Amino acid sequence: MTAVGVPFVAPAPWFPLPARLAVLLSGRGSNLEALAGACDAGTLPARIVLVLSDRADAAGLEKARARGIEAAVEERCGEARAAHEARLAARIEASGADVVCLAGFMRVLSPAFVARFERRIVNVHPSLLPAFPGLEAQRQALEHGVKVAGATVHLVDAGTDTGPIAGQEAVSVRPRDDAERLAARILAAEHRLYPATLAALLAGGWTVEGRRLRFPAGEPAEE
Ligand code: GRF
Repeated sequence: MTAVGVPFVAPAPWFPLPARLAVLLSGRGSNLEALAGACDAGTLPARIVLVLSDRADAAGLEKARARGIEAAVEERCGEARAAHEARLAARIEASGADVVCLAGFMRVLSPAFVARFERRIVNVHPSLLPAFPGLEAQRQALEHGVKVAGATVHLVDAGTDTGPIAGQEAVSVRPRDDAERLAARILAAEHRLYPATLAALLAGGWTVEGRRLRFPAGEPAEE
């Protein structure tokens, strides 16, 4: 744990490149595809070494296998959260992953799990945090009547969608939007934002001071 008031400075690069990523998901896996596509295109200097799902029926597992990526399932079957998380952590550690990328992983991770991978877990969330954390963020935004929605990539801390913000992309809300249409445009933003922000994180040299994460050369979206 970093002492309060002492900034954390990531080495540059954050990890030896190409960095090793573990992607955790529970469903569709479109963000997995975006990350894997960026790795293949060379815009994200990383390799996905493991896809891990807490659901055997997650479509993302097949997407991983079709790309030749190891895909594993660890379902929680009536056991304590700590026991399930111990199996997830063992898989991640065995893969040698540097960074854990949450991509539609529908479980809140315990403070103990987050501490085990301190500042090495990254998440994408379909709102402009800190607005609308938690489930159905796009519906929350629409029902609140905001005119601008969006997506956020952040480091994961012990709270729900509360960690330091690394990147955001705004999406306008249109008068005829329903939750589904808005979610589709936010998802397209996620697919741009997640690989680009992760690439900036992997380059390293960023700092976290209090809640504030700063990149050495400005925000990735400005480049
Ligand atoms: C995305 O909207 C992501 O922001 C949220 O869950 C959804 C996952 O979609 N955390 P996919 O499985 O990546 O297609």
